Amino acid sequence: MRHGHMRGTEHGGEQAPVLVIGATGKTGRHVVTHLRRLGADVRAVARSTTPTQFDWFDESTWPAAVSRARAAYLVDAQNEHAADRLRAFVAFAADHGLTRLVLLSARGWADSGAPDLLATEEALRGSGDAWTILRPTWFMQGFTEDDLLRAPVRAGTVRLPAGNGGEPFIDARDVAEVAAAVLTREGHEGAVHALSGPRALPLEEAVDTIARATGRTIRYHPVTADEYVADLTAQGVPGGQARFLAQLFTWMRDGEDAHLSSGVQDVLGRAPRDFTSFVAEAASSGVWDA
Ligand SMILES: NC(=O)c1ccc[n+]([C@@H]2O[C@H](COP(=O)([O-])OP(=O)(O)OC[C@H]3O[C@@H](n4cnc5c(N)ncnc54)[C@H](OP(=O)(O)O)[C@@H]3O)[C@@H](O)[C@H]2O)c1
Repeated sequence: MRHGHMRGTEHGGEQAPVLVIGATGKTGRHVVTHLRRLGADVRAVARSTTPTQFDWFDESTWPAAVSRARAAYLVDAQNEHAADRLRAFVAFAADHGLTRLVLLSARGWADSGAPDLLATEEALRGSGDAWTILRPTWFMQGFTEDDLLRAPVRAGTVRLPAGNGGEPFIDARDVAEVAAAVLTREGHEGAVHALSGPRALPLEEAVDTIARATGRTIRYHPVTADEYVADLTAQGVPGGQARFLAQLFTWMRDGEDAHLSSGVQDVLGRAPRDFTSFVAEAASSGVWDA
């Protein structure tokens, strides 16, 4: 073991694994990498992983996932059942010896104060365990890993109801590094860490940055929320989901998202990564080639 702070995870003479739920996702797979770098034994799970699988909706997968673990990173089920599933899991985890739970939430949800969006955080707080909540802004990786932003960028026309509102996009790798630190160090119990990138940029600037780095013509067209909902439903997105997505972009438009949060600096002691370097790296990988 290379790091003294990992000693807290010793269990029965063997190092207890840190459970990472959502380990195939934008943050989860980097949480796995960072934990391993810190010397942790990691159990990385999602619906598609082997030998250990985890499904929020199949409790028969839970015992093997939590076996001997003391700490877990939680990416929730991301649908209307997420809070219920989390509540059930938190109770299960307490019965099975997990004492540290780190939940990936979202800053925009928290800032909105909407009870339905805060229900997962409430489920975690109800655990009474040593919980920590991470509230990041929009991930830069939305432009490379999610078709919601990646597909329009590739197509060269980005229509969104975000106006000129700024968003301090965060690199999902920074979120993951914060999560790994919180999972392996004392001192974050009961803490809520808001995490943002180093500067807020409007969608137009984000798109222009990608256009310059790729040498392609990509244009941002601000649209109304109704126009965006119509675009999405025409692509087969269910109405409720389309309206939810429109809401997220209109918060951005109205400047609700533009403020900076210091969580990366506070936890890691360094500045968060900037959008321009993320874009340079992504462009050279060819992810935006049409
Ligand atoms: N994307 C952003 O910009 C952003 C910003 C702030 C906060 N967040 C928050 O981050 C969370 C994750 O969003 P994301 O976009 O980053 O997703 P993601 O982590 O890239 O993907 C979801 C992960 O969850 C797993 N998963 C999905 N359904 C599951 C189920 N029923 N049981 C077990 N695992 C399941 C997926 O793996 P399998 O499909 O293999 O199961 C995958 O590993 C959300 O709660 C979101 O609010 C996202």
